[in-house]
Amino acid sequence: MGFIGVGGIAQDRHLPSFAHTEGVELTAVQDMNDERARQVASVFDIPYVVKDYTELFKMVDAVTISTPNKFHSEIAVAALDAGVHVLCEKPMAMSTAECEAMIEAANRNDRHLSIGYHYRYTPEAKVAKELMENGEIGDPLVTRVQAMRRRKVPGWGVFTNKDLQGGGSMIDFGCHLLDLALWLLDDPKPVEVIGKTYNRLSKTPGLVNDWGSIDPETFNVDDHVTSYITFENGLSMQFECSWAANIKEDHTTLSISGVDGGMDVYPFELY
Ligand SMILES: NC(=O)c1ccc[n+]([C@@H]2O[C@H](COP(=O)([O-])OP(=O)(O)OC[C@H]3O[C@@H](n4cnc5c(N)ncnc54)[C@H](O)[C@@H]3O)[C@@H](O)[C@H]2O)c1
Repeated sequence: MGFIGVGGIAQDRHLPSFAHTEGVELTAVQDMNDERARQVASVFDIPYVVKDYTELFKMVDAVTISTPNKFHSEIAVAALDAGVHVLCEKPMAMSTAECEAMIEAANRNDRHLSIGYHYRYTPEAKVAKELMENGEIGDPLVTRVQAMRRRKVPGWGVFTNKDLQGGGSMIDFGCHLLDLALWLLDDPKPVEVIGKTYNRLSKTPGLVNDWGSIDPETFNVDDHVTSYITFENGLSMQFECSWAANIKEDHTTLSISGVDGGMDVYPFELY
């Protein structure tokens, strides 16, 4: 395996997990910050550090991509065209065109492309998927999604930089629950989306924020998003996500009401 972009998520999750996965060899690492790449290679005992990620493709069967979102598509397409399988962090990319380019590259090279939407692998989500496929709640009608954090804007990395990330709470946190909801509903085709984005709290000087300090001057992404989505098959979804809402406490809600029954995914309940 090779690792491209070895900041927070790569060091906290990918590298420790792959280091303990049977049959996986940690072979090479690349990061725009060469010093960080060297430190990581030393901690995880990785033999090769390269400056240019294309050099890494000759050494490995698969790569993880954990760079800021702006680089996901370009690096994934290059890896797939070099015959290397890809696990790319979420969100997949910054635009539909970038996502489509990644899918086309995976298909034309017959390589695996997987996106880090790990909520799909939680026990609750797996049970929910099985029951949805078995028709346990009948045809789904209305879905409610809330991915809500109270005053927790990530104050590290580049999460509040629109050029590098493409957005804020929606593309960073909301995307996990939206992906999960759409997957459970078997990817219905949206026909209309009404939405509203906010960032007034994060633009307010002196905001009390539990996850580090943020600069209201440079903050240029959303910190709270509300929307209502309707789908071709008659389904509808109320969706809300936030990094910084004045709510009582953080919560993650995904509930689906069907013709014959309903379910909550977190915590899981069928009724
Ligand atoms: N699955 C999850 O729940 C989850 C959690 C956190 C982050 N992420 C995703 O992981 C990605 C990285 O997030 P992070 O928290 O690790 O950020 P980070 O800022 O801690 O790390 C990013 C790393 O990428 C490097 N980098 C920047 N541009 C590069 C380039 N062009 N080529 C190579 N390296 C480059 C930086 O030097 C840094 O080491 C983001 O896409 C983020 O959305 C996913």
